[in-house]
Amino acid sequence: MKIRDCARSPMFEDSVKILLLGSGELGKEVAIEAQRLGVEVVAVDRYDWAPAMHVAHRRYVIDMMNSGAVKSVIRRERPDVVIPEIEAISTDALEELESEGYLVVPNARSVKISMNRLELRKFATRDLGLPTTRFEFAENPEDAVYACEKVGFPCLIKPEMSSSGHGHAKVSSPSKDSVVKAYNYAVSHSRGRSRRVIVEEFVDLALEYTVLAYRHLDGERVATEVCDPIEQWRYGEYHYIESWQPPRSDPGVLKRVTEIARRVADGLGGVGLFGVEVFLTRDGRVLFSEVAPRPHDTGLVTLVTQELSEFAIHVRASLGLPAPRPRVISPGASVAIYTDLDNVWSPKICGLREALGVPGVDIRVFGKPSTYPGRRVAVVLARGDSVEEALGKARAAAKLVSIRA
Ligand SMILES: Nc1ncnc2c1ncn2[C@@H]1O[C@H](COP(=O)(O)OP(=O)(O)OP(=O)(O)O)[C@@H](O)[C@H]1O
Ligand SMILES: [Mg+2]
Repeated sequence: MKIRDCARSPMFEDSVKILLLGSGELGKEVAIEAQRLGVEVVAVDRYDWAPAMHVAHRRYVIDMMNSGAVKSVIRRERPDVVIPEIEAISTDALEELESEGYLVVPNARSVKISMNRLELRKFATRDLGLPTTRFEFAENPEDAVYACEKVGFPCLIKPEMSSSGHGHAKVSSPSKDSVVKAYNYAVSHSRGRSRRVIVEEFVDLALEYTVLAYRHLDGERVATEVCDPIEQWRYGEYHYIESWQPPRSDPGVLKRVTEIARRVADGLGGVGLFGVEVFLTRDGRVLFSEVAPRPHDTGLVTLVTQELSEFAIHVRASLGLPAPRPRVISPGASVAIYTDLDNVWSPKICGLREALGVPGVDIRVFGKPSTYPGRRVAVVLARGDSVEEALGKARAAAKLVSIRA
């Protein structure tokens, strides 16, 4: 990859250009970090005025599962770096573009493996030998019944491809009806037309971690670093609710968690940041769950906790710039804000006066143009003298925020 030392003016000759495939709230922070380094930013998504488009130089609205559309935009823009920001992207297009010489961050292979639960399990268990929940694959209702019996109850059925917990179905009883119902539910929420699912042992979680591991150019070699683990809790839901740093877990557990993340990042390769999800079960097992080859939603907390946020790290690593391992400079916490409103355009994010009046609290309003039930619209971030204090402030401020039509 290119070793870079100079920046030029965006929109002029030889500007350094990043193209974001996916322009959500994480892409928006990536775009802001890129802008700060004088980089030209192109934001692409399937809908107009997605969050990162508000802070980009140009934007495109395309179907990102359409290989031709992805290739056409990238060949027109000829960016120095392509940063996939979501899972739902044509990986065939990414592989083809990579073979033409485009830099896809971290690389097309990582994006392909990590978006597919079956491929990812094979990689984690067969290639890396990492501990995971017990699992089986199934591709029809009969297989699913057999797979659930093998894994045991309760178990969790997930589609081969989905994100944010879509299509997760817990099966508590061995009755054939409940397995088939769960299988059909998972398949109906799958991205694409796959009928394959993973059946996982449902574990009793004590805590979840997101470990940010990254690979960047250090001199002429690629070095791997792992940030202090982020801890997170989902209250039994399948999506991000709260996260905090620094971690409060036992050092022995943190060492195992960190080691898993390092091995995953090195196994996938390339340059850039990986959000590695790890479970700690109540019976003391540390298990690899999955990985996002990009900044992670629970990592929004690093905007207030680390010397370099996960976004700054990802941008630097993508550009061939060094990103020395960041220290945690303040305890901090994040609380995500969701809406239940359906199809409201330009929703009002209210209560900012009171929430921002809490010392140490900050809010990121994503600026999404419309709502659907369960859509994330903002995040509250807080610093404190301790994680407890930061979490208390973030929770209190989040309660003051309301989303209205
Ligand atoms: N086998 C399991 N046992 C218990 N809980 C689980 C299991 N698998 C997943 N979960 C819970 O569901 C959450 C989402 O699971 P997973 O990360 O596999 O789905 P996802 O669709 O990729 O979600 P996200 O995009 O938020 O990471 C986990 O963070 C965890 O809280
Ligand atoms: Mg996950």
